[in-house]
Amino acid sequence: MEFGDVVRRRRMVRNFDPDRPVPAPVVDGLLDLAIRAPSAGFSQGWGFLVLSSREDRARFWAATAPADAVPSGWLAGMMRAPLLVVPHASRDAYLDRYAEPDKGWTDRDEARWPVPYWYVDAGFASLLMLLGAVDAGLGACFFGIPPEATATYREAFGVPDAYTPIGAIAVGYPAPDRRSPSLRRGRRPATEVAHWGRWGTSSGSGAAPSGLRSAATREDGASERREASEPDRRP
Ligand SMILES: Cc1cc2nc3c(=O)[nH]c(=O)nc-3n(C[C@H](O)[C@H](O)[C@H](O)COP(=O)(O)O)c2cc1C
Repeated sequence: MEFGDVVRRRRMVRNFDPDRPVPAPVVDGLLDLAIRAPSAGFSQGWGFLVLSSREDRARFWAATAPADAVPSGWLAGMMRAPLLVVPHASRDAYLDRYAEPDKGWTDRDEARWPVPYWYVDAGFASLLMLLGAVDAGLGACFFGIPPEATATYREAFGVPDAYTPIGAIAVGYPAPDRRSPSLRRGRRPATEVAHWGRWGTSSGSGAAPSGLRSAATREDGASERREASEPDRRP
């Protein structure tokens, strides 16, 4: 698939065919994409927990869903995903890397960091998996793990304290779903979010980038605004 098509077709899919597992080579392919993400200082301070067996996935949902949750709507659709990948970020890996002689931040002072790059990089890796899923004919959804469930999650899977789950990615063959009502907000156009030369100054041309805008509008612009009611989803 063309790169632009992959990007434009990507959307969060929240329901899956439970009877179609993701083939092992495809899972490997997603992870191979993830590790190609850029990382500050090539720190690569990420870790991915891959849950593909029924038991492991059940343990994930038991550890992270509220105890009284009735699997309907959002949760029911997500629980059908045959694959979960939980991307983690290690702050320590970055502090260690930047304490090396070529970087020299031996004080490991977090205040040196413009933003926490460990989360940025794990996010980059996550996006590559989301795009890779589209390219492989799959659907995927990145979603949050509630903060109050993090300890239970760690415990269930032996995740060390040094690694923080930044969310989770459900992957599988898409089944019909209700898309988020958040999409009613509409996509903010580049003319609104890009500032040219000085904050608040819009582009002189306002021209659509060739080959991009028309397809983007066709693929998601109009349809997103037609989205109906909110699935029973996590915030
Ligand atoms: C950091 C992050 C957290 C998100 N958390 C959730 C979530 O907990 N549940 C969910 O259903 N979608 C979640 N989403 C998906 C967003 O709702 C979605 O990306 C947004 O509405 C745009 O829709 P699209 O990705 O389908 O284009 C999250 C997305 C991001 C980037």
